Amino acid sequence: MAVVVSTSPTLELPKHLDSLIGQTVPRERRALAALAKAAPPRMCIVEVGTFCGQLAISMAWGSAQGNKIPIYAVDPHTTFTGRVDTGEVYGPCDMYEMYKNLANQPPEIATLVYCVAVPSAVAAARWPPYSVALLVIDALHDTSSTKTVFHDWAHTLTSGSRVAFHDTNYDSVVQAIQELQDEGVQLTALYTPSRSLTIYDYRITEKVP
Ligand SMILES: C[S@@+](CC[C@H](N)C(=O)[O-])C[C@H]1O[C@@H](n2cnc3c(N)ncnc32)[C@H](O)[C@@H]1O
Repeated sequence: MAVVVSTSPTLELPKHLDSLIGQTVPRERRALAALAKAAPPRMCIVEVGTFCGQLAISMAWGSAQGNKIPIYAVDPHTTFTGRVDTGEVYGPCDMYEMYKNLANQPPEIATLVYCVAVPSAVAAARWPPYSVALLVIDALHDTSSTKTVFHDWAHTLTSGSRVAFHDTNYDSVVQAIQELQDEGVQLTALYTPSRSLTIYDYRITEKVP
């Protein structure tokens, strides 16, 4: 059966955001900013793997036009090498870049972004249940890590939460989503703003006694 994917929502963003260091393309940022704008009040947005904050800041511009809910940018910013083929190296200098990028935003935007400089699992373990309207997963991209991040944060989601997986052009990420669905996790593809971003609707699975 063909998967029906709706046209992605989009929100125009200030041009200066395009010049920040980051690993998303403009239409991905515009789509996630639109979802941030539409997110319900008293919830929050979590990005796992924030790097220099370009996407988190873009979502803050969206949230500022909506219910002004916080964006939690989770990233330990410890030194490690990402994909070997691309030679990506991450580390504390990204945290410096992120603070610099935040300091260059208007206060009403910068103050919507909270930097959470611990590994995803540590943050997720203390996170309140049913509080995340939009979860963006963009840390390590192997199948096992992608699934672990989802499982760690699953209790924070509620029916109608959106889950955005970045790098769905990698087989490993597609495999992770497939395995989650095979486990019974209700993730339904909603939007594919680009070949590397897929946004899902999440539903809490009713437990049959
Ligand atoms: C692909 S980059 C993120 C790109 C970013 N979302 C953007 O839009 O530019 C991956 C990031 O994941 C972070 N990371 C690695 N392990 C992590 C973990 N356990 N928890 C949270 N972030 C992690 C790395 O420090 C790195 O900054």
